[in-house]
Amino acid sequence: MWADLAPVGRSAATGGYLRQPWTSAELELRAWFAEQAAARGLVVETDAVGNTVGWWGTGTGPGVLTGSHLDSVVDGGAYDGPLGVVSALAAVDRLRERGVVPSRPLGVGVFVEEEGSRFGLACLGSRLATGSVTWADVEGLTDRDGVRLGDVVEGGSSSLLEGVGCFVELHVEQGRALVDLDAPVGVASGIWPHGRWRFDFAGTADHAGTTRMEDRADPVLTFSMTALAANKQARLAAPDARATFGRVEVAPNGTNAIPSRVSAWLDARCSSEPALTALVAAVTEHAVARAERDGTSVTVTAESVSGAVSFERPLVDPVAGRRRWPVLPTQAGHDAGALSAAGIPSAMLFVRNPTGVSHSPAEHAEIADCLAGVEALADVLEESLR
Ligand code: GLV
Ligand code: MN
Ligand code: MN
Repeated sequence: MWADLAPVGRSAATGGYLRQPWTSAELELRAWFAEQAAARGLVVETDAVGNTVGWWGTGTGPGVLTGSHLDSVVDGGAYDGPLGVVSALAAVDRLRERGVVPSRPLGVGVFVEEEGSRFGLACLGSRLATGSVTWADVEGLTDRDGVRLGDVVEGGSSSLLEGVGCFVELHVEQGRALVDLDAPVGVASGIWPHGRWRFDFAGTADHAGTTRMEDRADPVLTFSMTALAANKQARLAAPDARATFGRVEVAPNGTNAIPSRVSAWLDARCSSEPALTALVAAVTEHAVARAERDGTSVTVTAESVSGAVSFERPLVDPVAGRRRWPVLPTQAGHDAGALSAAGIPSAMLFVRNPTGVSHSPAEHAEIADCLAGVEALADVLEESLR
């Protein structure tokens, strides 16, 4: 399965992946998933945006769902998302080899636009599937080219998760904790609250040569000082805060003109919700004060906010305790967080990443650790199906 996925959406230049939702690479991956599910005799259901579940068994009682996502960030790694989908399919194979016959339905799911890399809302598919956002809330979202979500996919409400009793997501670890603990597999305790805020800085376009330095209203200057302030504010709260401006657009983006506008996206994460609110307020305050000084203006819009998540440890603890898997918090968002926030008991397993790097082509997992992850997931699913 891994060999099937390897070339899809891969950049020859960087070795990274571009698998944005509703583009050809991501549609190819979802078609591949439907084939793999059908080849295993799973009954495939898809909702109006493309979230998909392949169901094994029609037993009674609430279903046990596993899976993850197939979309990537821009120039992402191979494992963030796909490892959870491939491992879920492989875990079904393992359970069959063990002779398990599920007394309750077992589903393997794929959620669309987990990364929010195209339409800006993280976990868009799983938020829609749980009803925490409606189609009316999101159909007007636009991508970088101004294309509306509602023009890309027909959309609508989803009943895909009706009857789901719990969710277990396996994911590549996105830091170095398991390397340091010398463990191939770990369990997530919870997810830090986090979000994305769009900062729009407006200035005055003018000539780069003839405009005296003291006469400028340069939004790049205001943005730059804001980025420095964000870094400083997050470090003041160390080690429990992160602030990143990873995406910036400058208009008109000409070398010999003072720009008229900068849009920049703050990704902020903290170990508690009050700390996150305070961090974003402090960065905003610095931006506003600096804009006043520069003769520019700034407006701040929250585009994607995710609250703190505590995972349902009883789902994994019986197995984790026997296997001595370490328990870790994570600063990364996941569909399991969206399902948990909507009241579906959810848990996560992490597979060791020797580079500790993620959202980058350097993300990695050794095959032996991936196989340990499949075995771990099969153990947890077998326990959950009891
Ligand atoms: C998802 O990977 C995120 O936390 O940005
Ligand atoms: Mn990710
Ligand atoms: Mn992910």
